[in-house]
Amino acid sequence: MPKNMRHIRPYKVFGLVEASPADRIVQLQLPPRRGAGGLTLLETCIVIAATNAVKARRAFEFGTFLGSTTLNLAVNIPEDGEVSTLDLDQASLAALSQHPEDAALTRTHFATRTLDFMGSRAAHKVKTLTGNSVTFDFSPWKDSIDLVFIDGGHDLLTVKADTEHAMEIVAKDTTSCILWHDYNNKDYPELSTYLDEMSASTPIFHVEDTMICLWFNDPTNAIRPRLGSTDQPRAA
Ligand SMILES: C[S@@+](CC[C@H](N)C(=O)[O-])C[C@H]1O[C@@H](n2cnc3c(N)ncnc32)[C@H](O)[C@@H]1O
Repeated sequence: MPKNMRHIRPYKVFGLVEASPADRIVQLQLPPRRGAGGLTLLETCIVIAATNAVKARRAFEFGTFLGSTTLNLAVNIPEDGEVSTLDLDQASLAALSQHPEDAALTRTHFATRTLDFMGSRAAHKVKTLTGNSVTFDFSPWKDSIDLVFIDGGHDLLTVKADTEHAMEIVAKDTTSCILWHDYNNKDYPELSTYLDEMSASTPIFHVEDTMICLWFNDPTNAIRPRLGSTDQPRAA
């Protein structure tokens, strides 16, 4: 299967933010912990830059975990914005066969009483949802989400279903985007193969020095030329 993953430097994503040097100020949670399952600071900055670039008001996150990215999304959208974040509950977990690395993350999620956004000044923007993303009913969000962040189950079945659901809920008439985490994560080779194959037909950008991939719905052609004009696809 041919691949066409486009590899871009982080500055290209930061360059999508239309603000003067003095106004390029965002809010960011300083990491409260060390450990697997969350994003690096650079990855968080890429997510926030994408949020800003599409002027996101409504975001949807697959995989809440400890709520760190949920918080970073919530503080960087307008006061009337909303971040919906989905994770498993005990009932949906019972019927699930998880990747071993994912099972450990889910155990940590269940053991955590206070998620990072709870008690924050942006908590009112966060809507928590529970269920298995593969079978969840996404119809209430159809065509309405400015930014989707896919970071739930990393097995092929789940990544494929989450990607298809993301394509359903992402806004079509305005600039919007989908981000995936864990591209090139050696624990999840199926995820990278899936995105590589998808890149043959869909312009997906991998941000170098991160495990983030991005796709933009770009009805006015305002984004993709700025990302792709000089960075050539690299042979896999
Ligand atoms: C890598 S963590 C998410 C990290 C989080 N997005 C962040 O940036 O801090 C993955 C989360 O996805 C959840 N998850 C795994 N499979 C899922 C599924 N099928 N449906 C919903 N959530 C799932 C896990 O319970 C876990 O909390």
